[in-house]
Amino acid sequence: MTTLISNIGLLVTNDPAVGEGTAELRDAAVVVDNGAIAWVGESSRAPAADERVDVEGACVIPGFVDSHSHLMFAGDRADEFEYRMAGRAYTAGGIRRTVGLTRTASDDDLRANAQRLRAEMRAQGTTTLEIKSGYGLTVDDEARSLRLAREFTPETTYLGAHVVPPEFADDAAGYVALVTGAMLDAAAPHARWIDVFCETGAFDVDQARAILEAGAARGLGARMHAGQLGESAGVQLAVEIGAASVDHCTFLSEADVAALGSGTTVATLLPGVEFSTRQPYPDARRLLEAGATVALATDCNPGSSFTSSMAFCIAVAVRDMRMTPAEALWAATAGGARALRREDVGVVRVGARADLVVLDAPSYVHLAYRPGVPLVRQVLSRD
Ligand code: NIG
Ligand code: FE
Repeated sequence: MTTLISNIGLLVTNDPAVGEGTAELRDAAVVVDNGAIAWVGESSRAPAADERVDVEGACVIPGFVDSHSHLMFAGDRADEFEYRMAGRAYTAGGIRRTVGLTRTASDDDLRANAQRLRAEMRAQGTTTLEIKSGYGLTVDDEARSLRLAREFTPETTYLGAHVVPPEFADDAAGYVALVTGAMLDAAAPHARWIDVFCETGAFDVDQARAILEAGAARGLGARMHAGQLGESAGVQLAVEIGAASVDHCTFLSEADVAALGSGTTVATLLPGVEFSTRQPYPDARRLLEAGATVALATDCNPGSSFTSSMAFCIAVAVRDMRMTPAEALWAATAGGARALRREDVGVVRVGARADLVVLDAPSYVHLAYRPGVPLVRQVLSRD
């Protein structure tokens, strides 16, 4: 079964064979065959297909790739958000509250919450999603979170090293031994990635190295949370070990920026966090000028960033992080794909997944120009 999507006023391909950056085509068409892209080009040259969808001059973009989320949790922490807006600082201490609620939730409750958020994301144009564990922090609860997360995405990340749970408050070394031992054994079959929160109050750089190396020995790719609350040695560790991505990057030294500019690790920026914690926004232009690859993601979680909207992240990145609309869109699609080391998403080219979003707008600039407006008219994707 082939489908011709025709009359695309502006098509964002992100395909380097077409051009730089967003690699845009005007008056374009795409043919989809069994969920994969079979043809891309000028509308007037499009081949015949079994069915035709006329998008009437709309802008079509690749589905968003949200490469950082924490959907396996129970409860919310709206009260903490309210206190922060009244002047209290974010310290990540609330993570333990969500851990308590998540441990006592049933599988069905966790599944239903993730399902609701997944549906929210999809309706807003997200077609590829990463989900982390990290609110279980026992062998069984981490394995359970990842097993449930796998029901939603193959991009699952083991984050047993989120914080040291209360029962190990006086024995951080014992907890690291668990994270790299029995907990890793239970988690690895359900995970593609391993992540660690390398920050004052969570795990230090030596612990982070031990955790990521243990994961690598089990075939898990490395990711990192670092530079959220202050500068962190985790950023340069991530680059040194070739982690796929280092996420937050709110506070970066000159040496961190230089390392990101010369390495292969993607700098994933999470504007929802700065919005929701009233922290300063990271300067994306500083990273881009250094040659770093930048991705944008929601970090959807009940504490630091409870948004499921990639369009919101784009709007903030353009308004407050010195990205152009084209750079922000690329970061939210192709950049996310790089952060997940995926070549089949975030791009519109023959052979890629046919994950396409039709906007109710003539241009993707409207994603930032019309903040908060639901501009996703249609999401075309295999699942
Ligand atoms: O990515 N930084 C650590 N973890 C989450 C916050 C989770 C929470 O506050 O519950 C983050 O921002
Ligand atoms: Fe996070």
